[in-house]
Amino acid sequence: MKFSDRERFLDWTVYQIYPRSFCDTNGDGVGDLNGVIEKLDHLTELGVSAIWLCPCYQSPNRDNGYDVSDYREIMDEFGTLDDWKHLREATRARGIRLIMDLVANHTSAEHAWFQEARSARDNPYHEYYIWSKKPPNRWKSLVGGSAWEYNPQTNEYYLHSFAVEQPDLNWENPKVRAEMRAVVEFWTNLGVDGFRCDMLDFISKDFKKGKMLNGPHLQEYIDGLFKGIDVFTVGECQSDEKNILSVSKSLTTVFQFEHIQLGRKNKYTPRAFSYDEVKKVLVKWQEFSQKHGLLYTLFTDNHDQPFYLSRMGNDQNLRYECATMYGATFYLLRGIPFLYQGQEFGFANPYYPTIEYFEDIETLNYYRANESKKPLEKLMNEINYGSRDNTRRPMAWTANEKDGYGFSTGKPWLAYHSRAKELNAETDKTSEKSVFEFYRKLLAYRNKSKIIRRGSFRDLTRAKDCFVYERAFAQKRVLVVCNFERQKKIPLPEGVNEKTFAFVLGNYKDFEPFSQRFRPFEIAVYEEK
Ligand code: GLC
Ligand code: CA
Repeated sequence: MKFSDRERFLDWTVYQIYPRSFCDTNGDGVGDLNGVIEKLDHLTELGVSAIWLCPCYQSPNRDNGYDVSDYREIMDEFGTLDDWKHLREATRARGIRLIMDLVANHTSAEHAWFQEARSARDNPYHEYYIWSKKPPNRWKSLVGGSAWEYNPQTNEYYLHSFAVEQPDLNWENPKVRAEMRAVVEFWTNLGVDGFRCDMLDFISKDFKKGKMLNGPHLQEYIDGLFKGIDVFTVGECQSDEKNILSVSKSLTTVFQFEHIQLGRKNKYTPRAFSYDEVKKVLVKWQEFSQKHGLLYTLFTDNHDQPFYLSRMGNDQNLRYECATMYGATFYLLRGIPFLYQGQEFGFANPYYPTIEYFEDIETLNYYRANESKKPLEKLMNEINYGSRDNTRRPMAWTANEKDGYGFSTGKPWLAYHSRAKELNAETDKTSEKSVFEFYRKLLAYRNKSKIIRRGSFRDLTRAKDCFVYERAFAQKRVLVVCNFERQKKIPLPEGVNEKTFAFVLGNYKDFEPFSQRFRPFEIAVYEEK
């Protein structure tokens, strides 16, 4: 794909919705599509231009919709296809694009294809999945345990890169590729504007080299999926430079996770880190994507990760400052901003003392594998640090516990956030230091500034533990200065002063724009006059 074909997407700002936890309109404790419709005004006010809906297809919900049992039906709990069509109309009316999640690597074990496939070796659907008489390797599933599961009916093992209930499709079978292409066409015919492609690099495996992902046919398969269809596509790929270059030939963009991996030894254990590491990774990918005419995805949070500000900053006394600092750091860079629900209110990780408060299959697997090995408190600390449920808590729209924080009148499917009385939309919006208010200004600035949306990037950082960068377009420059936790002096680049630049955005009161003194997590944006 040429840069000119994808450049227009630099004008998008995407808001990710985890429908289960967004807004429940019928009191069953589960968020639904009507709940998304109800909150569209909020999204318009925030200033986003697209939403990415996490899977809302028919599913037994072993992995909250990432285990699809029918790609053409809406999950009962979320509503009906008609509700979805209303949502489609309502977003259209507001000029909001709609991106669907496409789970192409695996289905639910309850999908009719798998039910057929597992029943007999000579069943026509058998070859839709990946079978072996004995586990041919020691591949581990990403949610713990062996990736091979025994199937008594055929006396074979099937591959599941994720949970046992999520068998991997056999993409080497042309019928499977045609089926998934038909799914893409089904939804594009209904008017979706794009797809977020779940675990896309897993669809091609390399058995010879023992690799579960990034196999030799990856690009060919992706090509077949989208060729000739003019939609936005973002792949979830754990990729290095080489792979990103190759998959980018057929995708609009990819998620790249290097900055997410910082600050931890593994998913559940932190390690010391510095903001310089975040800066270094961002600079590396900004320069790389700029050089190769790629679009970079700008994100800190999603439904699989604990809140970034809790892991990589301060979610207590400097929560507002830290939330806004990360907002400015990421969303003024070159690329496509992705915000995750709740981030616009500065939500942070909750804390729970026992496992009863968790539902995520990966978290529960981890707990089971470790409960006899580690003291409870240590294990719960790890889980609170790393669990995917951190960002999946029902949204708190009001400060009122009695009205289910404006999320649901019923019992929520997952316990409310332990800090919901303090961390909720209502309290944030009416607070003097409102993260939402800052985000609104930030996105409004981005939406109106061609320099931010289309300009080039240059790193101008000269000091430690801060990030100073320039964006430039048509001879005009914007300078972004972000400080980390310690107060310090950050020299402004030569030629940047009252006469040449105007201060346009900050996150502290009483800021002296050209004093070069920055408080903890303080940011400042300057525009050339
Ligand atoms: C992706 C999803 C995650 C899911 C997994 C398996 O990583 O983001 O939530 O569990 O794929 O589909
Ligand atoms: Ca509901």
